[in-house]
Amino acid sequence: MSTKVVISGAGGGIGINLVDQLLNEGCEVIAITRNALKVSTQKEKFGDLLKVIEIDFLQNNFIEILDTQKHEFHNVDILINNAGLLINKPFEEFSMVEIQKLISVNYSAALAITQNCIPGLKKSDRAHVVNISTMGAVQGSVKFPGLSIYASTKAAICTFTEVMAEEYKNEGIHFNCLALGSVDTDMFNHAFPGQHAASSPIEIAKFIVDFSLNKRELFNGKIIPVAAQTP
Ligand SMILES: NC(=O)c1ccc[n+]([C@@H]2O[C@H](COP(=O)([O-])OP(=O)(O)OC[C@H]3O[C@@H](n4cnc5c(N)ncnc54)[C@H](OP(=O)(O)O)[C@@H]3O)[C@@H](O)[C@H]2O)c1
Repeated sequence: MSTKVVISGAGGGIGINLVDQLLNEGCEVIAITRNALKVSTQKEKFGDLLKVIEIDFLQNNFIEILDTQKHEFHNVDILINNAGLLINKPFEEFSMVEIQKLISVNYSAALAITQNCIPGLKKSDRAHVVNISTMGAVQGSVKFPGLSIYASTKAAICTFTEVMAEEYKNEGIHFNCLALGSVDTDMFNHAFPGQHAASSPIEIAKFIVDFSLNKRELFNGKIIPVAAQTP
């Protein structure tokens, strides 16, 4: 039976590469994206192996929309909470609306998707939730001004991972968090114009796919830095 994988942020830099690589590995993929057109090439090529759920986590009713799609998650094996939003600005200049946006995309969305996937994950013998965080959220790592809200919402996902691994250890669901270094995507290039990212989205997606599919047995409740250099 093929492995069923749910991915949020499926239309973006790392996400679209995850979708592509997982489909090529023979997985069934549920892609959560704001715009189905972003995965249309993969849809044409892989047909029913790819299901697309269109949601914007900034819509007030995104949890209700997710709820209407519950049936899609009933036999999921792997969830990759990949969606993320970065706003780089001095803390005192943030509006509460912007702070709420970062909380919604980086934290609330991952919690809501995870809740929807738990019943299916409980039935899987390879259940693995992989949360995508950042090196800047890891305790003791180099920190950058402007990323107070981004990094702290991503740190919340790190702690969520550790607690969930403990809470669901008897159900066989493994939770891990990958704290990425810089990756050459729109997010990085908008936030740090002119700077050079350490990795490409293709190579990072390759690592995440292998980790999600093949390394579950070796890790649970871990926050793993995926960075060849500091920062
Ligand atoms: N690039 C880096 O240097 C870096 C470093 C550390 C960690 N990360 C993390 O890696 C993950 C992927 O980021 P990326 O670099 O690939 O950046 P990206 O190209 O900006 O992708 C982020 C994706 O998040 C989704 N997203 C953003 N706002 C959303 C909203 N309102 N509703 C629903 N989905 C939303 C989007 O998916 P759709 O386009 O499909 O709607 C978007 O493509 C993120 O969690 C990020 O924090 C990136």
